[in-house]
Amino acid sequence: MSEPTTSIPLRPTGRRGPPEQQMQGHWLLATLGKRVLRPGGLALTRRLLQAAAPGAGDRIVEFGPGVGRTATVLLAAEPTTYVAVDPNPEGSAALTAVLARHPQARLEVRDAADTGLPTGQADLVVGEAMLSMHDQKTKDSIVAEAARLLGPGGRYAIHELERIEDAGTRSGAPVGGPGDPVSREISRTIKVGARPLTLQGWQTLLEAHGLEIVWTAHAPMRLLEPTRVFADEGVIGATRFFVNVARNKPARERVLAMRKSFRDNRAQLGAIAIVARRRA
Ligand SMILES: C[S@@+](CC[C@H](N)C(=O)[O-])C[C@H]1O[C@@H](n2cnc3c(N)ncnc32)[C@H](O)[C@@H]1O
Repeated sequence: MSEPTTSIPLRPTGRRGPPEQQMQGHWLLATLGKRVLRPGGLALTRRLLQAAAPGAGDRIVEFGPGVGRTATVLLAAEPTTYVAVDPNPEGSAALTAVLARHPQARLEVRDAADTGLPTGQADLVVGEAMLSMHDQKTKDSIVAEAARLLGPGGRYAIHELERIEDAGTRSGAPVGGPGDPVSREISRTIKVGARPLTLQGWQTLLEAHGLEIVWTAHAPMRLLEPTRVFADEGVIGATRFFVNVARNKPARERVLAMRKSFRDNRAQLGAIAIVARRRA
């Protein structure tokens, strides 16, 4: 049975101009009907979850579930418990509609850096497209919290933006750190921090918190390419999304600007998925 689709409303941002021009990019896409808001799409999520192997008996925590698309996949594994942790209200109605049919699932309106959940009581923590939004200090706090929640051998599965250092990277320009020009440009168009790390940067971050990398995969960052939208949302969902974009001029301008900056930076930007295990 498919999960319910609850659309999320446009919210005034308090800034001047139409909300479509001001909202954080992922929430604008969600108001237009998009449910998959991570860089490697549903295909990379499926590979990640195959590697992390959620199963019956697992106690799962998901950081930053958005509108609940991955929650649907995780709950299909019938875990013992599923706790979504997200401090932001935008996706909560859609997420709550997904969780409503699963008595073992609940939402904690908390920051992933401080979940209030008990130590060592999770078997699997999942987070997609949420660490990349934050600066290094906050990334550290969130990963430390994931490590605290996991028992020894517990899995932490992440799917994030990868900063690729290629021949076109200007020599001397910072890569995947403060002042990275790619990060600055993407952040400006999506109107939220985009702070991807290199493969080495993600590995170092996880290992610094007692996590051992056991699996890694990469995919192109094609979030707004039509083929990817159809793959992620299905024919009906993708058609609805493109119709909504076509009907709304400020939203269309914004989506096209986001897609252009992703295309312009495609050699420097990818998606990465990692499963790490908490050391004993
Ligand atoms: C780009 S969306 C990704 C949503 C979903 N994971 C997906 O991939 O489709 C980022 C999500 O992370 C959440 N988020 C951002 N910072 C967070 C934090 N410190 N703790 C928990 N969730 C956070 C946002 O509210 C949002 O749900």
